[in-house]
Amino acid sequence: MPILFEPQNKVFHLYNRHQSYILQIVKDKYPAHIYWGKRVGTYNGCGSLLFLERGFSPNPYPYDRNFSLDWLPQEYPSYGNGDFRSPAVTVQREDGSVLSELYYRSYQITNGKPRLLGLPATYAADDEAQTLELVLYDRVTCLQLELYYTIFNNCDVITRWAVLKNRGTERLKLLRILSANVDFRDDAFDMLTLSGGYINERNVVKRPVLQGTQLVESCRGVSSPQENPFFALMRRDATEDYGEVYGFNLVYSGNFTASVQADQFHTARAAIGVNPFDFCWLLEPGGEFTAPEAVMVFSSNGLGGMSRTYHDVYRSNLCRGEYRDKERPLLLNGWEAFGFNFDENKILTYAEKASEIGFEMLVLDDGWFGKRTNDTCSLGDWECNSEKIPNGLSALSQTIKQKGLKFGLWFEPEAISEDSKLYRAHPDWCLHVGQRPYTEGRNQLVLDLSRTDVCRYIVGSVSSVLSASGIGYVKWDMNRHLTEIGSPLLPAERQRETAHRYVLGLYSVLEELTSRFPHVLFESCSGGGGRFDPGMLYYMPQTWTSDNTDAACRLSIQYGTSVVYPPVSMCCHVSDCPNWQTGRETPLATRGYVAMSGNMGYELDITKLSGKDTEEIKNQIKIYKEIRNTVQFGDFYRLLSPFEGEETAWIFVSKNQEKAVAYDFRTLAKPFAPITLLKLKGLNPGFRYKESETGEIFGGDELMNIGIAIAPESGDFTSRMWRLEKIG
Ligand code: DGJ
Repeated sequence: MPILFEPQNKVFHLYNRHQSYILQIVKDKYPAHIYWGKRVGTYNGCGSLLFLERGFSPNPYPYDRNFSLDWLPQEYPSYGNGDFRSPAVTVQREDGSVLSELYYRSYQITNGKPRLLGLPATYAADDEAQTLELVLYDRVTCLQLELYYTIFNNCDVITRWAVLKNRGTERLKLLRILSANVDFRDDAFDMLTLSGGYINERNVVKRPVLQGTQLVESCRGVSSPQENPFFALMRRDATEDYGEVYGFNLVYSGNFTASVQADQFHTARAAIGVNPFDFCWLLEPGGEFTAPEAVMVFSSNGLGGMSRTYHDVYRSNLCRGEYRDKERPLLLNGWEAFGFNFDENKILTYAEKASEIGFEMLVLDDGWFGKRTNDTCSLGDWECNSEKIPNGLSALSQTIKQKGLKFGLWFEPEAISEDSKLYRAHPDWCLHVGQRPYTEGRNQLVLDLSRTDVCRYIVGSVSSVLSASGIGYVKWDMNRHLTEIGSPLLPAERQRETAHRYVLGLYSVLEELTSRFPHVLFESCSGGGGRFDPGMLYYMPQTWTSDNTDAACRLSIQYGTSVVYPPVSMCCHVSDCPNWQTGRETPLATRGYVAMSGNMGYELDITKLSGKDTEEIKNQIKIYKEIRNTVQFGDFYRLLSPFEGEETAWIFVSKNQEKAVAYDFRTLAKPFAPITLLKLKGLNPGFRYKESETGEIFGGDELMNIGIAIAPESGDFTSRMWRLEKIG
């Protein structure tokens, strides 16, 4: 039983093999946080909470000046009665007041994990997890708060979410409702975030936790490339492989907040949830609101241990559908090769060569619909452009299939061009605020997905293309952020619900389309990796990692992304040189190895390749098909960080440790560089491994303790690969 309740001291102990999460109901009212970390055998509720009188800390019980909410470590704090730190929930009453007193009432422990209404979330069978539900109640407003905690049996994951129900008669305004709050008893942490921007996604950024609030957020309507809905708290001595690390990741694709607040007593309040900025939800009597799930991971094996737990749980308990456990097809995308400039003949020539080289899927990117020959028009008109493709998509798809390739198509269903039939028919279907002018981004507006008619249109128009044309893959793009966030169908008091309703609308569309088309592989994209979050992964098991395909930049982008997201979810393409984003030349071998370090594909004009490059690409594809299972479904260990030097290295190890593939990359060549030893990780120390290229034999312990000697090579952006297989 991974959840124990000790009734005398009202202690809940959630545990599995490696971790314990303990909370206690204090004074029969307050759910207090006792501990989260390495597994402890028992906790009887006596030892760890001490109360002490402190100046300026108010006392809810005047006779007990030792007790104050000002420093009580709380599970889900609210505002107004003595806790001056940031609350997890704030509700405004009809009289304008925002005080709430949500006190413990009851609990329930169930096997498995309930679903979250209308929201993506991890899932677990009855024998995989247990869930604790704590019920809190405010007698004045008759608000019922349900706090959920699911602990997984076999991985160090606890997920949390909250549901607020209005059982009273007042119309309440929900101003803030976070998903998880953890009050650590000290603040000796560093905070790690994945920060960046367009074509520079998910840099590893680490800062010390200092008194005050350190916060990352998105106010862009999407999770965004600027900040990811994730942070880790690392003990100051924790490293990639050692020490305690706590990860927080929100299963949500819209505005979020993620923060750590260190207070006067050097405790740290970690919190994550929907961003309260520009958010206000009207909770009518009888109404309820579900806050998205936060996936929290504890690791006592450093950041690497945390990452592998996220990879495992996302691969097996978040991603869904036919492709969840399937090797992903090796695709060729036309975007960086010819942009909007193609026609049927060009595609067919391309397909012919693609099949010869060994590709498994051909993807037609932007420009196949409406009258789109550039980015100024036609978004919303999802009908084949008959000038470019005179025989129609279905015939094109048939011919491509005859060449042994699957056929994939690009869509940007959340967008609308002013120059489109759709806009002319429905000028009010985009997000907008009254008569105020629209702000365009990439010459386009955003459809108002808070409206059911708009969502129905998207499902209908995408479905008719998919059912008619034998499409096996969809790239779902989204190329701007939300402005003028308002919806004419909502009353004034609900306007600030629009951003969250947009996300709910998007999820309902994705739920419908992925269930209607279970055989289609969906890939999410937002100008690259601008919406790389677990919410999107629930519907689409892979994401276009970045529009930056420069191999040197990709090292950092893929390294940072791997902190949370599994390599199988990261689409990585080999593209042409000089690179279109950076103008840089990198060797084809290095571009190949960087792309092989994830879900590999290509994005260059294969009809223009030299004979030598064609042969090299054929060989890369052959290798990738051989290592694909290990890369996509094995364990991933980071060896050297591009954020700390000129060298990047990592290794993929199959779950049974019998196969491994390691890569080392050097960016700038150095004169008189030393010979270095690269120590591998994750191998079985007792196995003997043979390297496939050289035939050399190594012990697993030898590779991990002594390492592989690397002689410096001349030239910039060099790379090496070792493929290891157990022998004997
Ligand atoms: C942005 C994507 O990230 C690119 O890969 C490409 O699909 C373009 N949009 C097409 O407009």
